[in-house]
Amino acid sequence: MADGGDLLRARFGIDLPGAEVPDAIAPMIDRRVARRYTDQPVPDSLLDALLAAAQSAPAKSDLQQYAVVVMRDPARIKQIADWIGTMDWIATAPVFLVWCGDMRRGQRLCDMHHMPHANNNMDTFLNTAVDCSLAMAQFMAAADAVGLGTCPISYVRSHIERVSPLLGLPGGVYPVAGLSVGWPAFRRPVSMRLPPSVVVHRERYDDSRMPDEVAAYDERRRTRDPVAASGLKNNDVYKPRDGVGWSENVARQLSVPERFGFAAYLKTKGFDLA
Ligand SMILES: Cc1cc2nc3c(=O)[nH]c(=O)nc-3n(C[C@H](O)[C@H](O)[C@H](O)COP(=O)(O)O)c2cc1C
Repeated sequence: MADGGDLLRARFGIDLPGAEVPDAIAPMIDRRVARRYTDQPVPDSLLDALLAAAQSAPAKSDLQQYAVVVMRDPARIKQIADWIGTMDWIATAPVFLVWCGDMRRGQRLCDMHHMPHANNNMDTFLNTAVDCSLAMAQFMAAADAVGLGTCPISYVRSHIERVSPLLGLPGGVYPVAGLSVGWPAFRRPVSMRLPPSVVVHRERYDDSRMPDEVAAYDERRRTRDPVAASGLKNNDVYKPRDGVGWSENVARQLSVPERFGFAAYLKTKGFDLA
């Protein structure tokens, strides 16, 4: 493993002179998603251990308001890859997990104890999503630790009306993200992050220097890892051109509504979101 300074430079494209990287967290700074997997199987015994690590994540009030659907049938995984259409590598994953927020279990528990469920609201929706995301993050960290590769897939929500019945998701349960899992066919380069000065605020939030800091970040990324033509967002709305930086590409993505029917979908699945 490279030394801490090299890892930080790879992650941020700048030196972070104040940071000292303990060996134990060096692999976390070196992490990256894996998109494409070898044929090597992932044994059930290992998968079960990784899922146990995921379930060891903290959960709001110990309510544990999430569920995960494990997919191992290649035809069903391919079905999801085919619906998405632009990520055929998903079909190379021997395991595909769908991480779900789950309000249903709490509703059933109230029912079982003859009490009303009085928390069908926005806060519960957020709690389900947070519990679920923390468990998925812990799964990813555990998978990284044993050399497996993973990639979260928000696109399962772009095909929610097909993915949800495929998995038999009942009311109160919705997919937060898919996660492809397998032994990586290759290691992608590390993806450069915003400088900590943009993301980490000391005592009070202050983004007054953000535009200048982001302009410098755009430049660093442009030099090391320019936005590829295939990575340009919304080419049907904005003309494709060379030299688009990270921040402009973010704006190209966020200026066009994405999955704007999601709240309506959740309401059909019993979420009040009030
Ligand atoms: C919630 C979430 C959803 C994501 N959805 C997708 C996806 O649908 N397809 C994909 O290829 N990558 C997806 N990613 C992976 C990101 O694109 C990736 O993390 C990002 O480009 C940074 O790369 P790195 O993780 O290797 O540092 C997702 C990541 C997260 C956290």
